[in-house]
Amino acid sequence: MKEYDLVIIGAGPGGYEAAFEAADLGMKTALVEKDHLGGTCLNRGCIPTKSLLHGAELYRKMREASLFGITAEAISYDPGKMQERKEDVVLQLRQGIEASAKRKKVDILRGVGTVCGEGSVLLRAGENEEILKTKNILIATGSRPAVPPIPGAQLKGVVTSDELLDCKEKIARLTIIGGGVIGVEFASLYQALGAEVTIVEAMPQLLPSLDKELAQSLKMLLKKRGAAVYTGAKVTAIRPGEGGGLACDFVADRPETAQADRVLLAVGRRPCTEGLFGEGISPLLERGRIVVNEKYETSLPNVYAVGDVTGGVMLAHAASAQGRNAVRGMAGLAPREDHRFIPSCVYTDPEIACVGLTLDQAKAQGIDADSRKALMTANGKTVLCAADRGYIRVVFEKQSGKLMGAQLMCQRATDMISGFTQALCAGLSVSELAQVIRPHPTFSEAVNDALKQ
Ligand code: NAI
Repeated sequence: MKEYDLVIIGAGPGGYEAAFEAADLGMKTALVEKDHLGGTCLNRGCIPTKSLLHGAELYRKMREASLFGITAEAISYDPGKMQERKEDVVLQLRQGIEASAKRKKVDILRGVGTVCGEGSVLLRAGENEEILKTKNILIATGSRPAVPPIPGAQLKGVVTSDELLDCKEKIARLTIIGGGVIGVEFASLYQALGAEVTIVEAMPQLLPSLDKELAQSLKMLLKKRGAAVYTGAKVTAIRPGEGGGLACDFVADRPETAQADRVLLAVGRRPCTEGLFGEGISPLLERGRIVVNEKYETSLPNVYAVGDVTGGVMLAHAASAQGRNAVRGMAGLAPREDHRFIPSCVYTDPEIACVGLTLDQAKAQGIDADSRKALMTANGKTVLCAADRGYIRVVFEKQSGKLMGAQLMCQRATDMISGFTQALCAGLSVSELAQVIRPHPTFSEAVNDALKQ
C-alpha cells in the first residue's frame, strides 16, 4: 500500500501548485488526476481561451492595418489551424507541469480519486483499484459549466465553453446566454473573427460582479463593434431556427428572437463533487460547494479543499494561492500570499482588471472615499496604437489618501493591476503611488495622470 504525507485530488492550478509547494517542503506527495494535467484553466479555460483570443485579435488588427500604412490583403483565418495552435500551446504547458512534477518527485497517479475513510483515498483506473494511505488529503477538483433549465438547452448546437473551445468550424452568428466573464470573452473572440454576436444577460448590466462603469463602457464598445447586447433580459426558450440554426427567444424591453448557428451557455460554473466521497462520508456542503475555514480545512479531519470546488472566487490564481497556503498551513507555516486582495481580469480588448473596492463598495462600507480617473484618450501610447477608449480609476480614502481599489479598462490592464494589488497589500496611499516615475511612452503613465489630479 502506497503511503503519503499528502494526496491531492485534482491537478488543476489549485492542485498542482499545492503539490509543488508540498514537495518543496519535503512532503511525500501524490497528485491524482482522471483527465489531463492542468485542469480547467489549462485544458478548457484560461489558456485555450486566451490563445484563441490572441489569434482572433491579431486577425482583427490585420484587417485594420491600413491605418498604419500597411497593406494586408486576402486575410482569412482557418479555425482548424487556430485549434492546432491552441493545442500546441496547451500541450507545451501541460508538459511543463509534468516535468516539474517529475523534478520535484511528485507522484502523478492517473485515475479517479475518492475519499473513502480517514487518511484513505481510493484510486480507480479502469478495472484497477488501489487504496492510498495519507496524512492529509487536499481536494482541488474544480468546477464545470452550469446548464440552466431553459427549454431547448439540450438541442444540438447549444454548447458550453468546453465545446466551443474545441470548435473547428467557422461560426457566422453566435448567441451568448450570460454576459459574465466567459460570455464577454467569447463575445470579443467571435466579434474579432467577424461573427454576428448577440449577448443576452439576465442582470441589469454585463459583468454583474464588477463595477457599473466598466460594464457600461464594455457594453458600448461591444455595440460599437456591431454586437447586439441585451441586459435585464429573460430567456424563454431555444428552438430550431432559420437556416438550420437556432433561435433564442427572450424578453428584454419586449419579446425578441436572436438567430444563430450556435448558442453558448455561459451562466456560471458549478463545483465538481460527484463521486468524491465514499459512502457515509461527506464534508459540510453549501449549495454544492465544499465549505472550508480560513485554513482551507473542511469539516472532515485532515481533509482540505481549495479553488472552484469551494465556490467563491473561481479564478486560477486564487486557487493556486489557496493551494500553496493550505499546504503551508499543514506544515505549520504562515501563508505566503496575502488573500485580502485578489485581482480580477477580463481578457476583452481593451482588457479589464480590478482589485480592491469600487467607489460604491467603499461608500457602502461607510468609508469616506473618493476616486480619480484618467482617460486613456490622453495617453500617448494608446493614441499611437489606435487602441479603443478606456480609463484607469483609483479609489482612495479621502482623509488619509490610502488606496482602496482600482478599476482599469485599457491595454495591458491585466499586467498593470499587479502594481495596484501590491500597493493595496502594502497599504500605500495615492501620494506614495505617485512618487514612482513611470516611463514614457507607456500605458502605465496614465496611472500617474489618475493619481496626480
Ligand atoms: P459568471 O458568474 O461570471 O457570469 C454568468 C452570467 O450569466 C451572470 O452575469 C448571470 O447574471 C448570467 N445569467 C445566469 N443565468 C442566466 C440566464 N438564464 N439568462 C441570461 N443570463 C444569465 O459566470 P461565467 O461567465 O460562466 O464564468 C464562470 C466562472 O469562471 C466565473 O467565476 C469566472 O470568474 C471564471 N472565469 C474567469 C475568467 C477570467 O478570470 N478571465 C475567464 C472565464 C471564466
